[in-house]
Formats: sequence, structure tokens, C-alpha cells
Amino acid sequence: MRDKLLSQRISAIKESATLALNAKVKALAASGVTVYNLTAGEPDDQTPQYIINKVSDHLHENKYTPISGMPVLKDAIVQHARSFYDANWMDSSMVVVTAGAKPALSAIMQSLLNPGDEVIVPTPAWVSYTYMVQLADGVIKPVPLQSDFDLDVDALQAAITDKTKAIIINSPNNPTGKMYSSSALKKLAKALENTDVFIIADDLYTKLVFEPFTPITSCGFTPDKLIIVNGFSKSQALTGWRIGYVIAPTDIAQSLNRTLSHTSGNASVPSQYAAIGALEVDDTPPMLENLRTRRDIVARALSSTNGISFTLPDGAFYFFIDIHQQADDAADWCADLLEQTGVALVPGNDFYAPGFVRLSYAVDEETLTAALQKISQFIQSYSQRQRSKS
Ligand SMILES: Cc1ncc(COP(=O)(O)O)c(C=O)c1O
Repeated sequence: MRDKLLSQRISAIKESATLALNAKVKALAASGVTVYNLTAGEPDDQTPQYIINKVSDHLHENKYTPISGMPVLKDAIVQHARSFYDANWMDSSMVVVTAGAKPALSAIMQSLLNPGDEVIVPTPAWVSYTYMVQLADGVIKPVPLQSDFDLDVDALQAAITDKTKAIIINSPNNPTGKMYSSSALKKLAKALENTDVFIIADDLYTKLVFEPFTPITSCGFTPDKLIIVNGFSKSQALTGWRIGYVIAPTDIAQSLNRTLSHTSGNASVPSQYAAIGALEVDDTPPMLENLRTRRDIVARALSSTNGISFTLPDGAFYFFIDIHQQADDAADWCADLLEQTGVALVPGNDFYAPGFVRLSYAVDEETLTAALQKISQFIQSYSQRQRSKS
């Protein structure tokens, strides 16, 4: 009944499926059940010591900063980004510091979209894009990736209409862990040459890569249509600190400042210092080698499990496992898995891929190895049950 009191806009919004599931699994663990939580979208590392040191030196600072961030941080971001993106054209008027990548992406949608404007997203895709677009009165247009999880540029081009405002590129990708090939990105840049379509590059996982990485800036997209979102949540294990940034054409950056000046305000001062601390060590993820070892552990275990298939991820900390041979609806399959084994995976349904499950290997090796054994046993028994049913 009280639902009627809410706006139509908010009534259409579901809570983030991944966060909700993670909370449910944590509650189950707190109640004493043994769970193997492979749902987390965050590194399991502690806050790096160099960040703690940097922030502790500035705890007395308690005042608002400029909305777009402290000048010293913006300068550090520009210096870092010019080298990382091989892009000397970047300057601090293009930088907006935000309380994580989510508010950045959300403010971008508020700035770009008129009612009915379309945003194309290659799918499988991270759960929140859809709702951010909807909250800005836009329309999300999912366009499936190819079977190897690379971009289908012809399909993307075919999906463009006169209402298309932007295409979201997230590489390495959540949930697939794959990077898009530079040839596909270059082909897309060519296809967009004479259009007004923005590329929104969600670059949150670009530091967590195991293979050579081509930055979005080297693919031929015009800088005046390129909006980059990056941050420190995943690369520095700072998910709870809420710190990220945008690099956008100056007019777009200014529009983001206007939005943020009335909504979140500036990112918190300690977190801005944390970002400076990260950039002083060149933002290199401390846990990258551990993640590579764990990726290989998962790949070995899944390779010897019949009844599923997977593509080896290039980065981030996810495997996106194809369970079509077992079930069409991963939500039910994951519920059974959790109930029977205590292992929690994220069903692909909210990533536009109901025949897949996402496994996060951002957990310690012991938990990972035990969970993989249980997953493998579950899959074998599931296959047997399916065979005896038919
Ligand atoms: C692809 C992607 N973009 C953005 C975000 C949001 O990051 P932040 O925690 O910095 O808001 C996430 C978090 O899971 C993500 O996976």
C-alpha cells in the first residue's frame, strides 16, 4: 500500500542484486552456517599501509573541498592518466573526483540524458548501468557480446538510432573478466566517427589485468566524445572508502560538477588523501600476483569439471561460467548450490545472462579450493539427476 507513496521512477528500481546477495550470504554466515562466499565484487585485501600512512597525516583536515576534488589530487590524477592512457591532451579541467565510480556514472547519466535517450550496453553487463540510465529517464539497450565475450561491433552499430546518446564500454569486464580486443574497439571507434555518440569507458578494472592491455585512448575514439570513469575501489581494495574519478571533456566535467554540487558534494577528504597515497605508488594493485595465482587455481578446477564451460578471464577477479548444459535459469541453480553445499555464486540473470553464474575469486586460497571441490561435486550430481530425469 505504502508503495503508492513512492515515485514511479523509484518503484521501478530493484536493489543491486549482487549487493543484496552478498548481504544475504554474510547474514547466513553470521547465523553459524558454513558458507563459501564467492559473490564478492571486492578484493579481500586489507587497506594498504601506504594509504593508512598518507591518510593519518591529514586527519585534522575537516573542511569542504572543491566539488571536483582537491587541486593537488586532480593534478596527481592528470599526471598519472597522461602516462597510463598515453594522452597528453588531458588536463585538470577535465577531472572530477567522486565518491566512487557509482556516483560518477550516475552523474554522467544525469548530465547526458533527456527523457527517452538511449544508452547501449554490451551484455552480459554489470547490474547497475540499467538502473542508472532509468533513474535519468533514459532507456537502456542491451546488445549481446559475441560468444567469446568480445564486442559485436556490427550489432552495436545496428543498434544506434537518432536517440542513442552513449555506449558503455567496461573492459576488463564485470561479470566476464574478459577484455575487449583492440581490433573490435578500433572498429567501433571507426563506426562512431561521424556520430554524436559518447563512449563511456568504465575503466574500474583496468589495473587488474593479466594480459597486455590496450587503453581506450589508443583505439581512435575522439577525445571530445570520450568519458572515462576510473577509481581506487578495486585496484587498491578501497571499496568502502568511496573514491573514484571521471576524465571527461571540460564541458561535460563542468556539468558533472553542477550535478554533484547539489547531490553528493565533494568526495570525503580522507579518501581524497587515500587516492593521493595510491597515485604516489603509481596505483599498482598490491594483490595482482595473488589474483593471478587464484585465477589459475579456478581455471584448473573448472577445466576438469564436466557439464560447464568457461572462457579464461584476462583481468578483474571473476569467472563467468556457462551452465546452460545444466540449467537455463541460474537463479534456481545457485539457490540449490547454496542450500546443498554452502557455496554462494551470483546468478547471471541480473547481468542479462540467465544461463551463466559469476564466481569471484577474491577470497583466500583455502576457501577457494574447498568451494571449487564442492562446486565440482554439485555439478556432477546435478548432471546425474538431469540424466536420470530424462
Ligand atoms: C563495472 C563496475 N563499475 C563500477 C563499479 C562501482 O565501483 P565503486 O565501488 O567505485 O562505486 C563496480 C563495482 O562493483 C563495477 O563492477
